[in-house]
Amino acid sequence: MNKNLRVPVIAGNWKMNNGPAAAEKLVHEIKPLAAAAQCEVVLCVPAVSLQAALAASAGTNIKIGAQNCHWAPSGAFTGEISADMLKELGVPYVIVGHSERRQYFGETDATVHDRTRAALDAGLKVILCVGELKAQRLTNITAEVVRLQTKLALEGVSAEELVERIVIAYEPVWAIGTGLTATPEQANEVNALIRQLIAELYSNETAAKTVIQYGGSMNDANAGELLAQPDIDGGLIGGASLLAQKFAAIIGAASV
Ligand code: PGA
Repeated sequence: MNKNLRVPVIAGNWKMNNGPAAAEKLVHEIKPLAAAAQCEVVLCVPAVSLQAALAASAGTNIKIGAQNCHWAPSGAFTGEISADMLKELGVPYVIVGHSERRQYFGETDATVHDRTRAALDAGLKVILCVGELKAQRLTNITAEVVRLQTKLALEGVSAEELVERIVIAYEPVWAIGTGLTATPEQANEVNALIRQLIAELYSNETAAKTVIQYGGSMNDANAGELLAQPDIDGGLIGGASLLAQKFAAIIGAASV
């Protein structure tokens, strides 16, 4: 597979960190450090900080993302935010199906599918997260789990939507926030099997053009090795995205 067909995406997932004032400050710190990036740079910030982050990043190469969106355009869904609302705000990206949403907020493969569909219909780009639990890896069902999650999420998604507006993030749940990174080989193996699934569902050409990130304790020290793998096209970064210098080093590793 030719890596030149894909532009890597380095996305920060700030999770529930940085209100508007802190978001503005961190975007201003990252701006000059990301200016020469040879990859797509995305910052997924808390909903209340979207406007501040959009304003602080205006006119730069930094794109802003939300961390979730609802599947309905509007309605009686207290506490939720629709994809259309994000679009209206000028937000280009949204994370869907993060394991913390699956683990703590009852997200299922069905709701991940519906949120993905809604985001695409609203014209957003989606960072679609998949990944196995530790127990699933230990029972050797990683491939089945990741194939199932990916297949269900992408049901009804066209090849064009997949290539142009979906970034798949493979995030082994046991590696998120634990300091336990998958080895470059382990990460690449699963990214490659996701690409193989896409070839089966769509075509070799679509698979070759689909951006597939790795996420899970990626940091400034291990990013180079991970991003050098043939099937890893960038990263979804939690902890290390909260510090401008560390995040910039990861952008640098993706820009070689
Ligand atoms: P981490 O988080 O980099 O802190 O492990 C990654 C993620 O949850 O996207």
